[in-house]
Amino acid sequence: MIKNDLFIRALKGETVDRPPVWMMRQAGRYLPEFMALKQKYDFFTRCRTPELASDITVQPIDIIGPDAAILFSDILVIPQAMQIEVEMKDGIGPWLPNPIRSQAHVDQVIVPDIDEELGYVMDAIKMTKEKLNDRVPLIGFAGSPWTILCYAVQGQGSKNFDKAKEFCFTQPEAAHQLLQKITDTTIAYLKKKVAAGVNAVQVFDSWGGMLSPVDYQEFSWKYIQQIVTALKEETEVIVFGKGCWFALQEMANSGASALGVDWTCSARNARYLTGGKITLQGNFDPSRLLSPPSDIKSMVKQMIDEFGKDRYIANLGHGILPNIPVDNARAFVDAVKEYKMG
Ligand code: CP3
Repeated sequence: MIKNDLFIRALKGETVDRPPVWMMRQAGRYLPEFMALKQKYDFFTRCRTPELASDITVQPIDIIGPDAAILFSDILVIPQAMQIEVEMKDGIGPWLPNPIRSQAHVDQVIVPDIDEELGYVMDAIKMTKEKLNDRVPLIGFAGSPWTILCYAVQGQGSKNFDKAKEFCFTQPEAAHQLLQKITDTTIAYLKKKVAAGVNAVQVFDSWGGMLSPVDYQEFSWKYIQQIVTALKEETEVIVFGKGCWFALQEMANSGASALGVDWTCSARNARYLTGGKITLQGNFDPSRLLSPPSDIKSMVKQMIDEFGKDRYIANLGHGILPNIPVDNARAFVDAVKEYKMG
């Protein structure tokens, strides 16, 4: 049904002529077409208006040509739906005026009815599917419970999420209750996304690497595993843990279809830790897209040679940066499409 199903085939571990490619945060600020809409509508208006969200989702497909689309939205619509106030401030990023710091506040956090609070996401998915017209698969996503807790407790982005960690380490019971509420909401949300038409889901554990390997098990992995277990029969699940190479072995046995890796972990190490049995996704340094296009092309070829063309999805090791020239992003995608072995 989907004309270009390379991405799904790679997730299922099938043999392919070349790996599929997409870029994390591919809908965004490096595209002039996105900036034009950003001038007119604030961030959450773009997320909440299916017409806008679906247009933004399709922009990179038309302009750059990756093998999968990712729905334009944000991981922070989940805390919003749980009645935690979230704003997006220019120059600052996410801003939560009432960060969670106590058991009493955790008690107030609700597990919402998804259709009531996040029906606009499902509408955006349906509209995007129409605009994509089965050209490429559509990816849905959510943040990991730990990464959502980071924002809910810290109240904004941070270099070390010290307040989030302090909350977990001084009030572990309250922290675990909050993580479980986020997990329950996320599972219901992702199931609705699958029902609305997404072809795969990715869990972004952007701040998992802030935790030690032991704390990672307790405060992050335990909850991601619940999500994977709940979703794996219904769709392909990708887990991307930034800085979480230490957990790859466990992740490989979780039931996920693929694991994302960042650029600090070599292909060889990632393959070794995962026993060569699971699809890996990554791991081009996003800053390397600032290199001249000819350098990007040779580095992409080398990256694919190292991961191998099968059980592999070419991607960046984290989101694309706003200062990347469009031609360089296109060179990245083209290099994967032109890949030949040898
Ligand atoms: O990948 C895509 O193209 C789909 C869209 C997408 C956005 N956010 C749009 C967005 C996705 C997948 C996300 C996920 C997200 N959001 C993550 C996990 C991935 C990652 O990068 O680690 C996180 C941590 C967030 C939280 C968030 N949203 C931050 C920290 C910021 C501000 C920092 C920044 O990059 O500006 C956002 C805002 C945001 N989300 C923008 C976009 C395009 C930029 C702001 C804008 O467009 O006005």
